[in-house]
Amino acid sequence: MSQTPKFGTAELTNKQLMMLFPTPMFMGALPDVGMCDRIERKIREMRTAGQGQSAPKRASPAFMTSDNLHQFPEMKGLTEIIMAESAKIFDAYTMKRKSHYIVGMWANITHPNNRQNMHVHPNCFLSGLVYIKAPPGCGPTMFCSPRKFTKNIEAQYSQKNELNTDFVLIPAEKGRMLFWPSHIPHAVESGTADENEERIVVAFNIMIKGKVDLFTSRIEFS
Ligand SMILES: [Fe+2]
Repeated sequence: MSQTPKFGTAELTNKQLMMLFPTPMFMGALPDVGMCDRIERKIREMRTAGQGQSAPKRASPAFMTSDNLHQFPEMKGLTEIIMAESAKIFDAYTMKRKSHYIVGMWANITHPNNRQNMHVHPNCFLSGLVYIKAPPGCGPTMFCSPRKFTKNIEAQYSQKNELNTDFVLIPAEKGRMLFWPSHIPHAVESGTADENEERIVVAFNIMIKGKVDLFTSRIEFS
């Protein structure tokens, strides 16, 4: 049972809750959701043409493209949005840089309800995805606090909230784009969609170019 102050107990004035070291998740929706259909068509064409890796039946992902989708003319509209939005995100961080670029961009076609293991994307600052096809009830993306695995003591909570949770689920929704710091572990949680449907995602990594002039740890990203 929680301890509440007894009547008459002195309390602080000007109380405030300040969140230290927040983890940003930048999200939005494509201005033209029809872009998803055009991209889906291209990805399916690639699958039919054998351009990419197809897995045996029931394995996941069922199909994965190469990681240079950003170089395809059919992806121009999408890459322009990704480049423009990631510039604004780096600006929000006030990150010093000469420029930024898409390191890799790829697509996955998966069973709508399959889990994907927790992982991070190395060698980049920002990672992101856009849901191209998201049948109702398909697996949400699960983000995990990077602090989760540094805890060796854990209490039990009667209700999950922002202060105690280590996991956040973001539902897959066609046209929704997410950007997050690349060190954040993420996974796909299981879903309950129609088994005959497919879930399609385009994912990408973003990196900067330029000199980082930090005392004792100078580096040039080129
Ligand atoms: Fe990922």
